[in-house]
Amino acid sequence: MAKKAELHYDGKVYELPIIEGTENETAIDISKLRQDAGIITLDRGFKNTGSTESAITFLDGEKGILRYRGYSIEDLAENASFLEVAFLLIYGELPNSKELYNFQEEVSKHTLVHEDVRAILDGFPSKSHPMGVLSSLVSSLTAFYPKSLDPNRSAEEVNGTIIRSIAKLPTLAAWSFKNRMRQPVIYPDNSLGYCENFIRMMFSLPTVNYEVNPVITSALNKLLILHADHEQNCSAATVRIVGSSHASLYASISAGIAALWGPLHGGANQAVIEMFEQIKENGGDVNKYVEKAKDKSDPFRLMGFGHRVYKNFDPRAKIIKKAADDVLAQLGVEDPILDIALKLEKVALKDQYFKDRGLYPNVDFYSGIIYRALGIPTDMFTVMFALGRLPGWIAQWKEMRENHEPIGRPRQIYVGENERKYVSINKR
Ligand code: SDX
Repeated sequence: MAKKAELHYDGKVYELPIIEGTENETAIDISKLRQDAGIITLDRGFKNTGSTESAITFLDGEKGILRYRGYSIEDLAENASFLEVAFLLIYGELPNSKELYNFQEEVSKHTLVHEDVRAILDGFPSKSHPMGVLSSLVSSLTAFYPKSLDPNRSAEEVNGTIIRSIAKLPTLAAWSFKNRMRQPVIYPDNSLGYCENFIRMMFSLPTVNYEVNPVITSALNKLLILHADHEQNCSAATVRIVGSSHASLYASISAGIAALWGPLHGGANQAVIEMFEQIKENGGDVNKYVEKAKDKSDPFRLMGFGHRVYKNFDPRAKIIKKAADDVLAQLGVEDPILDIALKLEKVALKDQYFKDRGLYPNVDFYSGIIYRALGIPTDMFTVMFALGRLPGWIAQWKEMRENHEPIGRPRQIYVGENERKYVSINKR
């Protein structure tokens, strides 16, 4: 028999259906609450509120579990390529060799962007943050592909927009960096793999014969997989709600990039390194900064620590921490920042304040250390996060569209002035 919850309110009893997922997550369905009982719920930051039923990613914050379409993040990070994972997230199954070949071929055909993108890029001052440039350039794709403005076109045309998004983001991301460096842009080379092509567009120059280091390619592949999706996080929820108004996929991704930019979300990977550098410049006293993070009168937070869902170790942080050791060793890089990170983690994990609140290192705590070792500048870190998260955003947008979900429009409780009459200015 279907489970139900009872709400006792104002002398009446309302039965509310219970929904259970395939991993036994349970929700009270309040879809008809306002219509039946005349009341709504209030949940600032949606900490206890589900917005959808999704088959893409499962995570268990208490157990530190993360799976894409049922496959564990550990398994995928160890064995898969990023495009394989992108295919899995977007289309629901791991591709067979023919499907993967076709997907890679399709993506490699669309890596070039319209030459007019360079004119848009030239309009950005060199000090422009690459996330702002990237969000703008992605939105500008609607100008070059006007048919993408209508997401209700055929599944084939929508898939064309999906392929173009996956194919062009590395080019736009690398060009955002070149704009920052005031260096000439490097055009994609379709004979190279996805990660290799991106690294080359980032670091090559017209005057050198740039050889991509396979250690860097392999590390990037793993990092992109680890960032590929994370269910209804802030930026994925943004992509869904923008897409729910039937805005284009490019517009929805552009909005997702903007949401990811915030230092409480994807922007944390840049803020973490800036925090480590601040600690290093101030003598490396990690205890002082742990105390600052606990001090409610001090706005300082331990960036890269804590998570809305994980109240145990973020499984991605564990993988990235090990990868950081491996990459620095393989590249022969000594980074004093890593020592500060390890010391800070050790002190914080023993501290009761952090234990009581279930605050552990998250995906952003160690990722910046690898990006530094790969030669990626700090304000490009969140662009790297966006590159990884793109297939997740696309999968979430596609699922929302295929499920014909309604436009997202939360309610509110009004706490302002009651009705009052206009007063002419000479009487105020
Ligand atoms: C990402 O959602 C996702 O899945 C995101 C993400 C993804 O893959 O998409 O995983 C990527 O965004 C990771 C998070 C990156 N952000 C940071 O590292 C910024 C630092 N972390 C915090 O700002 C915070 O932990 C959040 C924003 C991540 C989560 O905040 P919540 O869930 O709203 O928790 P909260 O702010 O209510 O904190 C609960 C308590 C508070 O103390 P009390 O009021 O209970 O006394 O914990 C404290 C907070 O003050 N706290 C911290 C802290 N994080 C939370 N105290 C010091 N340092 C911190 N980092």
